[in-house]
Amino acid sequence: MAHILLRDPGKCTRCGFCRSYVSCRKGCVGCGACSISCPNNAIEIIEIKKPGAKDLSVVIDDKPFFLPKTTVRGALESLDYEFLKYPDYSNKKEIFTPCETGGCLSCAVMIDGELMPSCTTPLKEGMVINTEVNSIPKRLVQGFSGHGVGGVGTPWQIKEIFGFVEVVCFTSGCNFRCPQCQNWITTYRRLGEPRTPRYTAEKMTRARERYSVDRMSISGGECTLNRRWLISYVKELKELNMDEYARIHVDTNGSILTDDYIDDLVEAGTTDIGIDLKSHNIRTFMEITGLNDREIAERYQKTAWEAVRYIIDNYNIFLGIGIPYNSDFVSLEEMAKMGEEIFKLSADVQVCVLDYRPAFRKKNAPRPNYADMGKVYSVLRGVGLKTVICQTAYGYIGP
Ligand code: FES
Repeated sequence: MAHILLRDPGKCTRCGFCRSYVSCRKGCVGCGACSISCPNNAIEIIEIKKPGAKDLSVVIDDKPFFLPKTTVRGALESLDYEFLKYPDYSNKKEIFTPCETGGCLSCAVMIDGELMPSCTTPLKEGMVINTEVNSIPKRLVQGFSGHGVGGVGTPWQIKEIFGFVEVVCFTSGCNFRCPQCQNWITTYRRLGEPRTPRYTAEKMTRARERYSVDRMSISGGECTLNRRWLISYVKELKELNMDEYARIHVDTNGSILTDDYIDDLVEAGTTDIGIDLKSHNIRTFMEITGLNDREIAERYQKTAWEAVRYIIDNYNIFLGIGIPYNSDFVSLEEMAKMGEEIFKLSADVQVCVLDYRPAFRKKNAPRPNYADMGKVYSVLRGVGLKTVICQTAYGYIGP
């Protein structure tokens, strides 16, 4: 079996993203990362039968195999290893593959003694693969710069003060495929070395000193995808920042943030969490996230709402809720419904409405204007929510 990458000349704008940031450089093995991350939806991967193609001799979990050219994941799947779209931490045999673009390293296995993503790594002659992973986790992570506004889990009182409110690092890889992803270059970028929690914590701590701030934020992509890495990173960060002023802030879509995951995060040292609740209706959720598997979308959406409920009921950490707004995919009626549901959980929780602007694959969607966001503000305040802030091109509408 071989793979051919087809580029639609009518859609390709020669932006170079696939070549510069996700290119495999050594021939297509059909991982699909370039297709998923193309901002113009211009790439299709097709499989063809190549007569006479030689199988590769590899060793997987101490057993020899002859397998066709593919990804490591493809090889493992052909041998009935199971890959999950939703994590099951109780079963160490299955591999969680949430991003499928090589960024999160949740699917990593030992390849020739090194921890590497199975979803994008090409199978090679003589490779030795071990699916039992006992090494320190790694993840692609970028940024480490000052942020003047903060994220969903940043208290509104300190947003947009003069200067920086926090330092932030961004993790690559996401389990959503939002057509209007605001951060797609970071999300899909596969450049650089995957980093250990210790390396990342040290870099973040130095950034905190450099920018003279107390808040350290981790965002994405989706930072929760590689749980072992994130919990370990927060612990390391806490260890390096034991002073009473330090705040460790996690911004997430909440889709895999189960109760026990939240317990681990808080115990590790997380002080602030921002959770994006994308919608009230599942159809809107699927449109915003670009997910077409309804079962998995329902599970993700339910988990995020449950995460909000669990934090409000059990913890005294700072919680912010994010809601996207753009009249192209959500109505004011649905915004009101969301507001009512949030109000049932807490009238006081901070709700931050993000004005989704044209980006990634939805460049034609008009950015909501100041008056649009003003209407959203009135709707959410109208249902009784006390702390609503609405992002606009001219700053926040808020308390
Ligand atoms: S699923 Fe393979 S790196 Fe994220």
